[in-house]
Amino acid sequence: MKRGLIISNVVFVITTLILGYILVFTGTEMVETKDSRTTVKYAPDLRDFVMSEMRDYLEVINEVHQGMADNNPQMIVDAATRQGSASIAETPARLLKLSPLACKQMGFAGHDLFQAIADSAKVNYNPATTAKQLAALTNNCVTCHRVYKVDYTN
Ligand code: HEC
Repeated sequence: MKRGLIISNVVFVITTLILGYILVFTGTEMVETKDSRTTVKYAPDLRDFVMSEMRDYLEVINEVHQGMADNNPQMIVDAATRQGSASIAETPARLLKLSPLACKQMGFAGHDLFQAIADSAKVNYNPATTAKQLAALTNNCVTCHRVYKVDYTN
């Protein structure tokens, strides 16, 4: 009985020491993931422009959600209009030239969806409609992010 206790204590201490060693002295290894996305190359100013647009997309989506939470259709209209059809005219010609066709199509589709959110909220605001449009919009974001990444040209 006593012997059994001693053995289980020894096993406990050894297990604790091993776990302690692992915790203190071993680190998580960084595993390289296989990134199979297509790289699109832009000059630094163009990449900065695109990334700043991307961050604004996220801000607009946040404001649309806030407008829904506050039952404030005008906030939705204002936010979504910022990235709606009119913003297409501000797209630099160089960007269109350097982007793959599918990338451009998804880019335009995104602006159309922002515009649709603004139009619906303006004409006849219905949260269920806005939610459906947001789902279609974010689906477009996700599809493009799965396929492309951006790098600087040298
Ligand atoms: C036409 C393709 C495309 C569409 C559509 C798209 N993105 Fe992106 N987005 C990209 C690419 C490419 C990157 C850079 C990813 C990388 O290099 O790893 C990016 C990066 C971003 C970033 C990071 C910005 C930064 O400063 O690093 C955010 C945020 C983002 N996208 C949000 C969105 C949102 C929200 C939407 C939808 C409303 C969206 N994007 C739609 C292609 C797209």
